[in-house]
Amino acid sequence: MFWTLIMAFALMAVVDPCPVPCKCEDIDIITCSHQNLLEFPHLPKGTKELYATHNKIQALPSEGLEELSILDLSKNRFNLSLTSDSIWQNMSNLNRLLLTGNAIMILNPKQFQGLVNLTVLDLSDNSIETLPQKLLYGLIKLKVLNLNFNHIFSLFYGVLEGAPALTDLQLKSNEIETIEVDVFENCTNLAKLYMSQNNLKNVSNKIFRGATSLDYLDLSRNGLVAIPIGVLSNIPNLTSLHLQKNHLTSIPDYIFSEIPALKQLDLSYNAIVSLSGASFRGIYQLGSLHLSSNLLQSLNSQVFQDLGQLINLNLYQNNLTSLPGNLFNNLSILSELQLDRNNISVIPQDLFHPLHKLKDLQLNNNHISELDKDTFKTLRKLNYLDLSNNDLERISNQLFQRTKHLEYLNLENNHIHSISKLSFQRLNRLHILKLSNNSLSTLHVEFLTNLSSLRELCLKDNQIGAIPVGFFTGLTDLTSLDLSNNNLHTMSSETFKGLNMLKELDLSFNRLVALPDDLFISLRNLRELHLQNNHMTLLPTKLFSVLTNLKELDLDKNQLRYIDPAQFEGLVNLKELYIKSNNLRSMENGSLKPLKKLKHIHLDGNLWDCSCKSILYLSQWFNNNTRLAGNKTIMCSSGQDLTYPARFPSSLSQHCTSAASFSSHIQNIKKFTVFIAFSLTFDFFIV
Ligand SMILES: *[C@@H]1O[C@H](CO)[C@@H](O)[C@H](O)[C@H]1NC(C)=O
Ligand SMILES: *[C@@H]1O[C@H](CO)[C@@H](O)[C@H](O)[C@H]1NC(C)=O
Ligand SMILES: *[C@@H]1O[C@H](CO)[C@@H](O)[C@H](O)[C@H]1NC(C)=O
Ligand SMILES: *[C@@H]1O[C@H](CO)[C@@H](O)[C@H](O)[C@H]1NC(C)=O
Ligand SMILES: *[C@@H]1O[C@H](CO)[C@@H](O)[C@H](O)[C@H]1NC(C)=O
Ligand SMILES: *[C@@H]1O[C@H](CO)[C@@H](O)[C@H](O)[C@H]1NC(C)=O
Ligand SMILES: *[C@@H]1O[C@H](CO)[C@@H](O)[C@H](O)[C@H]1NC(C)=O
Ligand SMILES: *[C@@H]1O[C@H](CO)[C@@H](O)[C@H](O)[C@H]1NC(C)=O
Ligand SMILES: *[C@@H]1O[C@H](CO)[C@@H](O)[C@H](O)[C@H]1NC(C)=O
Ligand SMILES: *[C@@H]1O[C@H](CO)[C@@H](O)[C@H](O)[C@H]1NC(C)=O
Ligand SMILES: *[C@@H]1O[C@H](CO)[C@@H](O)[C@H](O)[C@H]1NC(C)=O
Ligand SMILES: *[C@@H]1O[C@H](CO)[C@@H](O)[C@H](O)[C@H]1NC(C)=O
Repeated sequence: MFWTLIMAFALMAVVDPCPVPCKCEDIDIITCSHQNLLEFPHLPKGTKELYATHNKIQALPSEGLEELSILDLSKNRFNLSLTSDSIWQNMSNLNRLLLTGNAIMILNPKQFQGLVNLTVLDLSDNSIETLPQKLLYGLIKLKVLNLNFNHIFSLFYGVLEGAPALTDLQLKSNEIETIEVDVFENCTNLAKLYMSQNNLKNVSNKIFRGATSLDYLDLSRNGLVAIPIGVLSNIPNLTSLHLQKNHLTSIPDYIFSEIPALKQLDLSYNAIVSLSGASFRGIYQLGSLHLSSNLLQSLNSQVFQDLGQLINLNLYQNNLTSLPGNLFNNLSILSELQLDRNNISVIPQDLFHPLHKLKDLQLNNNHISELDKDTFKTLRKLNYLDLSNNDLERISNQLFQRTKHLEYLNLENNHIHSISKLSFQRLNRLHILKLSNNSLSTLHVEFLTNLSSLRELCLKDNQIGAIPVGFFTGLTDLTSLDLSNNNLHTMSSETFKGLNMLKELDLSFNRLVALPDDLFISLRNLRELHLQNNHMTLLPTKLFSVLTNLKELDLDKNQLRYIDPAQFEGLVNLKELYIKSNNLRSMENGSLKPLKKLKHIHLDGNLWDCSCKSILYLSQWFNNNTRLAGNKTIMCSSGQDLTYPARFPSSLSQHCTSAASFSSHIQNIKKFTVFIAFSLTFDFFIV
């Protein structure tokens, strides 16, 4: 026992204690982030890694850091004091020095000279304006230098001297206007240069001389007005060039042929007016070309001829009106083509024929009024097709005959009034079909036959008057069906038969007067049902009885006069009920009782009769549950609020004429219900 104690004391004396308030989880790794530290912590001998971010440290100690290999002082208060440079002399083990988010303004020549093992230096998000010559002197292993988010205005000759291993230079979001000739002299290992968000406008063609291995160059978001001829000849191995968001108006002929390994080229968001047949000559490896958001009005038929490896071509938001028929002749592996938001009115019949591998085609927001039946003939791999917001009037039988892999088809916001009955018969992999906002009035019964993978069908904003019996048969995967804003006035019992997976059904903004009581019998998985803005006066008692998963039911803006006490039986999971703006006067005892999970109810805009005894149930329920109505005041037709009858029950009239006559009226209506469900819509009980 005695000896054990002695041993323990001896050990404690040898091992340096962990500095308060730091954590020393591993013997040589210390963490003291977010501790409001004002002073640099005293490090035990042998500490290899220190993480002291988000503190208020302003100065380094003069010794004791010799063994550190990682020093993370991000988000502290270092400013000029960093220039006391003797500390770095002996830190030959330091590998990563992280000083992002301090207030450093001034850096000195040869400042970091002793850091012979440093590979990562992060000085981003400081207030540095000038980089002195020989700043990196001695950093012979430095690979990554991050100077993003500073105020550097120029790159002077000599700033990179002495750091021959540099591969990755980050200068994003500074104020650089000039890059001196030969700055990159001897930077033979530089692979990535990030200069997005600076003020480069007119650069010399010698600025990249020396960076012979440059692979990735980002010059986006500058003010470049032209690409100087010859500038790319110094960086022959470039594979990725980002020039988006500049002010380029033209592309000199053959300019990219000096960088034949180019794989990615982004020229989007410039002001390019035209391209010649030689604009993209010689870049046979190009995989991705972005030309969106320029001012192109036409394209030379040769412009893409060398781009046989192109996979992604982006031309959206230009001003193209037509395209030459052989424009895409050599693009045999193109997978994505974006031509949306142009002014295209005519598609040559064979334009897309060479694109055997095309998966994604966006033609939306143009002025296409007609498509030849052979337009998509060879696009067997096509998966995604957007033709929305055009001027199409009809879809021919053969248009989608060969596009068997289509999963997404958007035809909304056109003027389609006719779709041939077999138009979609081959699309048995289609998941989403959008046809909203067209001029469809009649639907052929076979029009959806075979679409057995369909999950989402949108037919809203058309003039559909009736759904043919059997129209949805076979759509066993359908989860969302939108039929809102059409002219539907009746529904057959069979309409939704078999749609067992349906989760959302929208029938709002139609002219429905009555519904058959078994209309929703298959829809056990339904979560949302929209019936608002129709003309219904009475609902069949059993209409909702199987909808045990329903969460939202919207009956607003109908003409409902009566809710059966059993109307909501079965809706045990309903959270949101809308019965606003109907003609209801009261509710029978227990009507709302089945709604055990209700979170919100919307009751206003009815004719609640607060002078009649029959309102007592609703008034009491409402008093018990005002929070479900958002604590809103609900007004009765007599001007009192709905809490009044429960508070003053004695004021209520037993034999209210309006209610009594209405009740007997209801008995009559109920007798008619069965008949109504199977007949067309007659307004005879809306007197
Ligand atoms: C820089 O830090 C020193 C302490 O090292 C402090 O005295 C000085 O006020 C700071 N200067 C600025 C401009 O913040
Ligand atoms: C660096 O280390 C040497 C010996 O290893 C020592 O003489 C010198 O004082 C140290 N310099 C600093 C600035 O700590
Ligand atoms: C650099 O670090 C390595 C270990 O990562 C070490 O072996 C070497 O001695 C260090 N170089 C210098 C000059 O200290
Ligand atoms: C590049 O290397 C040469 C030869 O070593 C040297 O004279 C020149 O100063 C270096 N330039 C820079 C900017 O480091
Ligand atoms: C661009 O710079 C060159 C010389 O580097 C000069 O001759 C030319 O006038 C400049 N152009 C503009 C638009 O500033
Ligand atoms: C360019 O890349 C090729 C092939 O990868 C390589 O052989 C050549 O040395 C590189 N050129 C330069 C200047 O880095
Ligand atoms: C591109 O197509 C033209 C014919 O339009 C052909 O002469 C040329 O060899 C093709 N180029 C490539 C790279 O496929
Ligand atoms: C688009 O092109 C038409 C001529 O086809 C031209 O009148 C119009 O100004 C152009 N629009 C833009 C935004 O350049
Ligand atoms: C579309 O092109 C026509 C000429 O074909 C032109 O008159 C019209 O201004 C263009 N529309 C836009 C939005 O540029
Ligand atoms: C319906 O489509 C027309 C063009 O066909 C368009 O102008 C209108 O904005 C669209 N309406 C809606 C609600 O999207
Ligand atoms: C209202 O709450 C009271 C007290 O909990 C209860 O006795 C009564 O049945 C409730 N009435 C309604 C209509 O919910
Ligand atoms: C309604 O009032 C109750 C009690 O005053 C409160 O707890 C609840 O948050 C309110 N609900 C809403 C939706 O305002």
